[in-house]
Amino acid sequence: MDLSGKYYKAFIDRQEAIRKQYSPKLTEKQHSKGKLTAQERISLLFDNGSFEEIDAFVTPADQPVEFGRVERAYGDGVIVGHGKVNGRLVFSYAQDFTIMGGSLGIVHAKKIAKIQEMALKMGAPIIALIDSGGARIQEGVASLSGYAGIFHNIIHSSGIIPQISVIMGPAAGGAVYSPALTDFVFMVNHTSYMFVTGPNVVKEVLNEDVSFDGLGGAEVHARKSGVAQMIYDDEENTILALKKFLSYLPSNNVENPPVVADDGSVPDVNEKLRDIVPDDPNKAYDVRDVINQLVDRNSF
Ligand code: HXC
Repeated sequence: MDLSGKYYKAFIDRQEAIRKQYSPKLTEKQHSKGKLTAQERISLLFDNGSFEEIDAFVTPADQPVEFGRVERAYGDGVIVGHGKVNGRLVFSYAQDFTIMGGSLGIVHAKKIAKIQEMALKMGAPIIALIDSGGARIQEGVASLSGYAGIFHNIIHSSGIIPQISVIMGPAAGGAVYSPALTDFVFMVNHTSYMFVTGPNVVKEVLNEDVSFDGLGGAEVHARKSGVAQMIYDDEENTILALKKFLSYLPSNNVENPPVVADDGSVPDVNEKLRDIVPDDPNKAYDVRDVINQLVDRNSF
């Protein structure tokens, strides 16, 4: 390969431009909100060095200037790709809030639709790491058509591959419809929100004061709407729990769930139960000890 050629140089230049795009200032801003960056989330989720990003060099579609400026950001605000999670193939997309609030323009949408289609074709789970202000206002109706493609793919894949949404910041507007269509929704307490529009817009339009948590925080969706099933206190624990959760799921509808061989170290359940449940029916015992004998170790 000619490493001095102009195409190789252009490739290296672009990689450098992508690296510069993620300035320490933007990373700091994201961290100051208790959030990780899209890259950090991807590297926590995937086995070391296994993630293959695709479409990293694409840029947003050209827009009429009257709709406002679109940042000429490489990747268009979303990282998409595939890799291994505990040795098993998984597809994912991670929206990057540091680029136009992770908002969805048409190129961003096409990247997501592409990775959804790849996941279905390969029969592997797809994980959406969502941190987005919804449809990119500057791209108008093109953004909405982008969502249509994403929603279509979710419905098409439903019941075939596991589809999991992990809310890691705002999921506003169009970004909040798709998680509700997927199989499982994880949220991070106090830093993730699902709502049609944010508190500032609510204030502007309805003149009502409402907090981020009150409008669409994890508690609201776990206790009231029922949209979220798994809530954790920080992103690291959310991703760890997600990885464990994945280990219980089959990769698709024709595979069996993974089976871990019994290493013989677990004592006979019946024997243990005899010790836990007292002969005297008036004596108390902790039923959790019984449950722990019946379910997988450390899983209750
Ligand atoms: C373009 C957006 C954006 C959007 C946020 N940004 N949302 N840019 N389109 N939808 C930009 C902001 O302008 C800002 O840019 C940067 O992202 C960070 O946003 P902040 O507001 O500073 O962050 P924060 O205070 O954390 O609030 C986040 C937010 C809020 C709650 C998501 O930005 C918000 O309410 N956005 C609007 C959400 C909304 O109404 N979406 C609905 C779109 S319509 P700068 O350059 O200042 O840093 C839709 C319909 C879909 O989605 C229908 C599908 C069929």
